[in-house]
Amino acid sequence: MPAARSRIEQLFSDRFSQSAELFQRSKKLFPSGVTHDSRYLKPFPIFADEALGSRKTSVEGHSIIDYWVGHGAMLLGHSHQAIVEAVQKQVARSTHPGACHQLELEWGERVQKLVPSAEQMRFTNSGTEATLMALRVSRIVTGRNKVIKFAGHFHGWHDSLINASAPPHDGDSQDPGITDGVYEDIIIIPPNDPLALEAAIDEHEPACVIHEGNGARWGVAPTRPEFLRDVRRITSEKNTIFILDEVITGFRVAPGGFQSVCEIVPDMTTMAKVLAGGLPGGCLAGRADILQALAFDNPLGRKMKHPGTYNANPLSAAAGVAALDLVATGEPSQKANEVAAAVRTALNQVFADKSARMVAYGAFSAIKILADYDGPRPDSDDFVPFDGDWRLLDRSFDKSFGHAFRCALLLGGVDWMGWAGSTSLAHDSRDIDQTATAFAQAIDLLREDGFAV
Ligand SMILES: Cc1ncc(COP(=O)(O)O)c(C=O)c1O
Repeated sequence: MPAARSRIEQLFSDRFSQSAELFQRSKKLFPSGVTHDSRYLKPFPIFADEALGSRKTSVEGHSIIDYWVGHGAMLLGHSHQAIVEAVQKQVARSTHPGACHQLELEWGERVQKLVPSAEQMRFTNSGTEATLMALRVSRIVTGRNKVIKFAGHFHGWHDSLINASAPPHDGDSQDPGITDGVYEDIIIIPPNDPLALEAAIDEHEPACVIHEGNGARWGVAPTRPEFLRDVRRITSEKNTIFILDEVITGFRVAPGGFQSVCEIVPDMTTMAKVLAGGLPGGCLAGRADILQALAFDNPLGRKMKHPGTYNANPLSAAAGVAALDLVATGEPSQKANEVAAAVRTALNQVFADKSARMVAYGAFSAIKILADYDGPRPDSDDFVPFDGDWRLLDRSFDKSFGHAFRCALLLGGVDWMGWAGSTSLAHDSRDIDQTATAFAQAIDLLREDGFAV
């Protein structure tokens, strides 16, 4: 353990002094002073005042390049003019008519056009609600209970899927607060392993298999497209519902999502984030015969109840329509993917120049950082460390190092989401240069504080 780690903390406390003060109020209100676990940061998180394009401004007035992009939702960048105008126009007309409305039709028709597997859909308020709904629909349709999920894959925080969504993966640990009954219905198998999938389906006869877009937590352990095609083939052969969770990959990696990249047709798809243009919203979409579980007087004779005060609310629908019109041009995904590739290259150059024990990798608009890395340096952007071995890719790091790393980057004007970042249409070459400089400076500061970077 390093002896002194105070320099980063001292500089950080000086630079973000107003955030420090707000955090004192925050701690009285919210457990650990935050409203989302990922925003927890020691000694304190920064408070943002506004966000525009690729940047957010802290309450102290510092302009910071944002790699959180609204937890993935802001593919267009912050406060994109088309979204602002759509929402402003709608807020004056109605935010909740308590009735069917035309914007929900326009929103749904755009989803259907971009994602042809979406024969029918229901809107929800979040990705968590969408995956929850996908499981219950699968159970109603098949009459079976068990669900197969992959180790490390994140599908939201509800009881059925939160387990095994993050490392460590070395035990059979059960998330606290979840009943044994729920836990027993969830079968966790290793990713990218078709034989394990076949064996698990044979043994457990599940209602469904759920897979996170391009792999654990936005591709920490990337999914091979051949594997997703295997999942499709195996689930079809074994008459099991295949749910692709595109909450983060949907409309982001390509207008048609990861399923269009892999050329597969899942039975159901869950979507959120980009879907609603940065406002709250999600949806479950898929085969019309399966979605009949949500219909009144359906042939199954069993209907899933689906209320939800804000389902398809007009503000989210207005933002979603505006966002999907831009998504349909292909430009947002293409630009975000290109800029992320350039950031990955720039960071690997910094790590090589500084002989740092770090590597950047990832696909599409994601940039993943592995610390404690002594392996070979990437020779192309297709490089995946450890030959894609998920146990080595998907592991946890020293928490105090993680906090210091994020604080050091913030000192250089970069807000990094833990060990990963995502880009948007708004990120540009100036951002890439400043990001590379911030990483170089962060490595120096971390070393000064005694971390073995
Ligand atoms: C793949 C995936 N599924 C589901 C969710 C949950 O979505 P939400 O945060 O909207 O509930 C997320 C959120 O990050 C996600 O990345």
